[in-house]
Amino acid sequence: GKFGKAKQILIEEFIEGEEMSYFIISDGKTFKKFQTAQDHKRVHEGDTGKNTGGMGSYSPSGLITKELDEKIINKIIKPTLKALEDIGTEYRGFLYAGLMIKNNEPYLIEYNVRMGDPECQTILPKLENDFFEIIDATINKKLNSITLNWSQSKSLCVVLCSNGYPENFENKIEITNIQVLINQCKNDELIFHAGTMMINDKIFSNGGRVLNFVCLSDNFKVSRQKAINLIKKLDWKNGFFRKDIGHKIIKS
Ligand code: GLY
Repeated sequence: GKFGKAKQILIEEFIEGEEMSYFIISDGKTFKKFQTAQDHKRVHEGDTGKNTGGMGSYSPSGLITKELDEKIINKIIKPTLKALEDIGTEYRGFLYAGLMIKNNEPYLIEYNVRMGDPECQTILPKLENDFFEIIDATINKKLNSITLNWSQSKSLCVVLCSNGYPENFENKIEITNIQVLINQCKNDELIFHAGTMMINDKIFSNGGRVLNFVCLSDNFKVSRQKAINLIKKLDWKNGFFRKDIGHKIIKS
């Protein structure tokens, strides 16, 4: 039938709410919080259309409060790390809790054993520590000796995609002037390569999600506008992007 040959099916509660990505890093003994973010998975504005790998993101999440943070740590993160310890797993690395937040209550949807994409691109620029020292401390189980410092900036990422994504799209379309634009970027403007490739010193698209434009400021609306301005400056004819990233937190 509809469920194939399965002998058992698991029916779970449907949770309505807002999705939030919550990150920690663990060295098997200690863990450190590694910020929150929210991403936009639908291809079209207003969160409509097909699911994608992520059309944009922002950090911090607008949902996080001290109270919610404590609930996430005590009800989800600590019991998970304890269970891993109980089965003799020394968990070292990033843990990404995909949460649904309903009425200020966190529900765990999934875990990923990595950072998120494009959440990571909004979080790492806010890190004021040396990233290498954190990784080194994690490997050597010395995370307890490190204090993580974070910028209070509002970080927002707009993803530039190939026309047609997430359905059929063309690859190997040249992106002219990308290096010129990168060279002009200020400290709070970053462009990350995602689906690109280099042929004879020229940059071409090589995927659906091509470039990530991340800007930081003290206000999400300004960060978004700066990212959009950079995309417009690039003026890549084969690209499209969502102009409404962060709409849940940016009240126009
Ligand atoms: N942005 C979702 C993920 O990385 O899984």
